[in-house]
Amino acid sequence: MRFFNTSGPIIAEKHYHLPPLSRFDLDDLDRLIDEWQYFVLHAPRQTGKTTALRALRDRLTGSGDYRCVYVNVEPAQTAREDVERGMRTILGGIGDEAISALGDHTVEELWPQLLERRGPDAALQATLGRWAAAEPKPLVLLIDEIDALIGDTLVSVLRQLRAGYADRPRHFPQTVILCGVRDVRDYRIHASSEKEPVLGGSAFNVKAESLRMGDFREGQVRDLLAQHTAETGQPFAQAAIAEVWRLSVGQPWLVNALAREACFQRDGVRDRSQEVTLDAVQEARERLILRRDTHLDQLVHKLEEPRVRRVIEPVLSGDPDAGGFSTEDLQYVRDLGMVRQTAPVAIANPIYQEVIPRELSYPQQEALPHDPAWFVRDGYLDMDALMRAFQEFFRDHSEHWVERFQYKEAGPQLLLQAFLQRVVNSGGRIEREYGVGRRRIDLAVIWPVGDVGPRREQRVVVECKVVRGSVDATVAEGLPQTATYMDRWGAEDGHLAVFDRTSGKPWSERIFRRTEAFEGREITVWGM
Ligand SMILES: Nc1ncnc2c1ncn2[C@@H]1O[C@H](COP(=O)(O)OP(=O)(O)O)[C@@H](O)[C@H]1O
Ligand SMILES: [Mg+2]
Repeated sequence: MRFFNTSGPIIAEKHYHLPPLSRFDLDDLDRLIDEWQYFVLHAPRQTGKTTALRALRDRLTGSGDYRCVYVNVEPAQTAREDVERGMRTILGGIGDEAISALGDHTVEELWPQLLERRGPDAALQATLGRWAAAEPKPLVLLIDEIDALIGDTLVSVLRQLRAGYADRPRHFPQTVILCGVRDVRDYRIHASSEKEPVLGGSAFNVKAESLRMGDFREGQVRDLLAQHTAETGQPFAQAAIAEVWRLSVGQPWLVNALAREACFQRDGVRDRSQEVTLDAVQEARERLILRRDTHLDQLVHKLEEPRVRRVIEPVLSGDPDAGGFSTEDLQYVRDLGMVRQTAPVAIANPIYQEVIPRELSYPQQEALPHDPAWFVRDGYLDMDALMRAFQEFFRDHSEHWVERFQYKEAGPQLLLQAFLQRVVNSGGRIEREYGVGRRRIDLAVIWPVGDVGPRREQRVVVECKVVRGSVDATVAEGLPQTATYMDRWGAEDGHLAVFDRTSGKPWSERIFRRTEAFEGREITVWGM
C-alpha cells in the first residue's frame, strides 16, 4: 500500500508520485548535457529537486552513454570554512556514490592520496580530472544542496569546478549540475580568506544557465490525488480537490501534506468507503498549521532575516508607500518560495499567508491577559465587548506592545490579529486577506454556534486600516471595503478599526466608537 510522502525524496514503490522526470523540461536538459554545459537547477525547499535529480541519474546511467553520479554535499556544512575537512567529506561522498551507483572504485582509491599531495584547494579538481580520464564514457556530476556549503569551502568547490571546466569532457566531467535553493549567480559568499564577499557568479562563471523547477500544475495535483483513489477506492470530492489546489497553489510538499493529513493521519478520513470532503481538507489545513512541521518551521524561521522583513513587512501592513526592499531582497524571498514568482509581491499560497501573521503575533497572543470566556455569551462571540476590550488594551499598552514586534510597521494590525486569534482559538477560526498596496487588512472571524443539530456559524468581519490623510477620509474609504467583505462572507456584523499613528495626537482624540450606516448595513467604526 502506498501513501502520500511528506518526509524527503519520493521512493517510487512506497509513495504516490508524479513521474519525477516530468518535473523538468527534458528537452532542455538533454540539450544542455549534449552541449557539455555546466548549469544550475534551483527551487525552494521541498519542491522535488532531489527526487528529480536521482531520477535523472538513473536515466543517464541507464542510457549506457554516461557515467552519472549524484552527491549531496550537505554533510560538509558542519566543516564550515575548514576547506580540508569539507573536501574530505565531499570527496568521500563522491567516492561512496560512485561505488553504489556505478560499482566504480576509482574515486575511492584516488582521493586520499590526491588530497595528501595536492591539498584541499586542488584535490577535487585533480580527482574529478583523473576519474573522467579513466574511461572514455563521459561523466556527469550532480551536486545537491550546494548552498549548504559555507564560505571558503563553497568558494573552493566553485573555483575548482571552474578550473577543470576547460578540460571537459575527456579530463573533467562533461556536465555538472549544481542544485540548491538559490541560483549560484546570486550567492554572496562571505569567505574568511577574502576581504569582500565573493559573488557566486564570479567564482563559477562557467555556468550556462539556470533552470528553476516549478510547483505542480492543477492537473498534476488532480493526478496525484487520483492515484490514491485508484489504489484504495476512496474518492476525493471535487470541492476537496479544488481546495487542496487553492490552499497549496501546487507547492509539492503542501499538496502531499494536506492529502496525507486528510486521509491518513488521526482525525483524517481513514475509512476508505468514505469520501474525502471539503471539510476534511479544511480541518487538515488547520491541523497542519498548528502542528508546524519542519517545512513551515523553516519558512517562518526566515522571517527573522532583515532582507525577508523588508519584503514581507509592506505586505503585512498593506501600506503602498512602505517598501525599501531591493531587487536582490525580492529575488531572495522569491527563491525561498515565500512569495509568488510574479508581480505584484504576494505571499505564495493561502497556507503561508495564514502561517506568517500567526507566527509573528504568536508571543503576543500567548502573553495577552484576556480570557476568551469573557467574550462568549450564549454560545455567540460578543464582538462589541471584544472590540471594546481591544480598544482599551490598545490605548493603555500599544506603545509598549507594538515596539515588541519585529515587524513594527504592521504592529497594530498584528496586535489586533493576536487578540482575535487568542479568543477565536477556543473554537473558531480567522480568515485573513492582506497584501501590498491594499491599504487594509480584512479579517473574517468564523465562530461555530450550537452543539446539537446542524452546525451554524457566526461570521463577523473586521477590517483594519491605518489613517492616511484624515480619520474621516480613511473611514469613508473603509466603509465600502468593509461592506464588500461582509458580502463575501455573508456576515451581518461588520467592524472597521482605524489606527491613527499620527505622533503626539492625544488618546482622547484617537479613541472613538460610532456606528455608520452604509447601503443598508450597519458598520461599527473603532478609532484608536
Ligand atoms: N515527483 C513527485 N511526486 C509527488 N510528490 C513529490 C514529488 N517530488 C517531490 N514531492 C514532494 O516534495 C517533497 C520533497 O521532495 P524532495 O525531492 O526531497 O524535494 P527537495 O529536494 O526539493 O527538497 C516530498 O516529500 C513530496 O512531498
Ligand atoms: Mg533535496
